[in-house]
Amino acid sequence: MNPREKKESAKKETGGLVFERDETLDPLGLPLGEPRKTVLVTGHKGQLGQALMELLTPDFCLCGVDLDEMDITVAEEVAGAFYLHQPDIVIHTAAMTDVDGCELDPEAAIRANSLGTQNLVIASEEFNCVFIYLSTDYVFPGKSKRPYFECDPTGPLSWYGKSKLLGEEFVRNMLFRYFIIRTSWLVGEKGRNFVKMMLKLAREKDELTVVNDQLGCPTFARDLAKAIRELVDTPYYGTYHVTNSGETTWYDFAVKILEEAGLDTPVRPITTEELNRPAPRPSYSVLSGLLFRERGFTPLRSWEEALHEYLKNIGQLNNP
Ligand SMILES: NC(=O)c1ccc[n+]([C@@H]2O[C@H](COP(=O)([O-])OP(=O)(O)OC[C@H]3O[C@@H](n4cnc5c(N)ncnc54)[C@H](OP(=O)(O)O)[C@@H]3O)[C@@H](O)[C@H]2O)c1
Repeated sequence: MNPREKKESAKKETGGLVFERDETLDPLGLPLGEPRKTVLVTGHKGQLGQALMELLTPDFCLCGVDLDEMDITVAEEVAGAFYLHQPDIVIHTAAMTDVDGCELDPEAAIRANSLGTQNLVIASEEFNCVFIYLSTDYVFPGKSKRPYFECDPTGPLSWYGKSKLLGEEFVRNMLFRYFIIRTSWLVGEKGRNFVKMMLKLAREKDELTVVNDQLGCPTFARDLAKAIRELVDTPYYGTYHVTNSGETTWYDFAVKILEEAGLDTPVRPITTEELNRPAPRPSYSVLSGLLFRERGFTPLRSWEEALHEYLKNIGQLNNP
């Protein structure tokens, strides 16, 4: 029955009396429309989690959970959180993100990044949720001469990359309505990251040494959160690469950070071998956002532009 037919039938039933009701208003005068969807954000205290909690607040009923509320490695805790919050959408950002820590304790990495993800995937299947999984450029081996496409073969070098890739596989094999978002070199306004570390070290040390033989792209959490906001209400499920635009080395990134912050501490380029960290890193991990662009989503701005705004927001820009 269309709205006019509905009105005519109501007229008959009430003997000609018609109660005009604005269906967009509830009795308190609030817009009714569609009920707000409930979004469960895992790792809401992390860099991306915090950006998502800020950005999504007006549009969704948001529930943030972190290690102290729900350990993703404990299936019962995951089930409990799903029964409590009844989510429509799950954005899974929680992870063991310490790349060298994962290398030193592969079992802990697999427990958190793979099995933790599997626990959430099982619950999401049960609750029929749309699932968004954050993955990484470190699933690639880094031998490419051009930005990695979504369909390029993976081949992680580190336990962090391997454990995140296994998480991807659980998502792909068990769910239909999912987004896997691979991103790189994440920088959030809250939380630990490379930018904050460089600013701190530049004030403490006479010289910084930074690796100059790894090429990638920084991604600012706010910009990534906006991209997730764009994706989440669409039916274009699948795997996407989402980073800021451009590419750089950690060394050039550090130089730019210090320049923008007005710090003149010298930065000396070194090799990955000289740095001698436990986990191997891909020497090239730039991601092509081809599918994201082709689907008509808004490409993220350049990392330089995002860095400028970031430093301004955290009060570290030299010439605001
Ligand atoms: N950071 C990057 O450069 C980068 C690059 C590419 C992709 N990613 C991916 O992007 C996502 C977000 O990264 P991020 O930098 O925002 O992460 P983050 O700041 O390290 O935050 C992750 C959060 O997850 C929590 N967590 C860890 N283990 C958990 C567990 N067993 N149960 C519940 N919560 C747990 C952490 O708690 P604690 O702090 O108490 O451990 C933390 O609050 C991750 O999935 C990551 O793999 C990150």
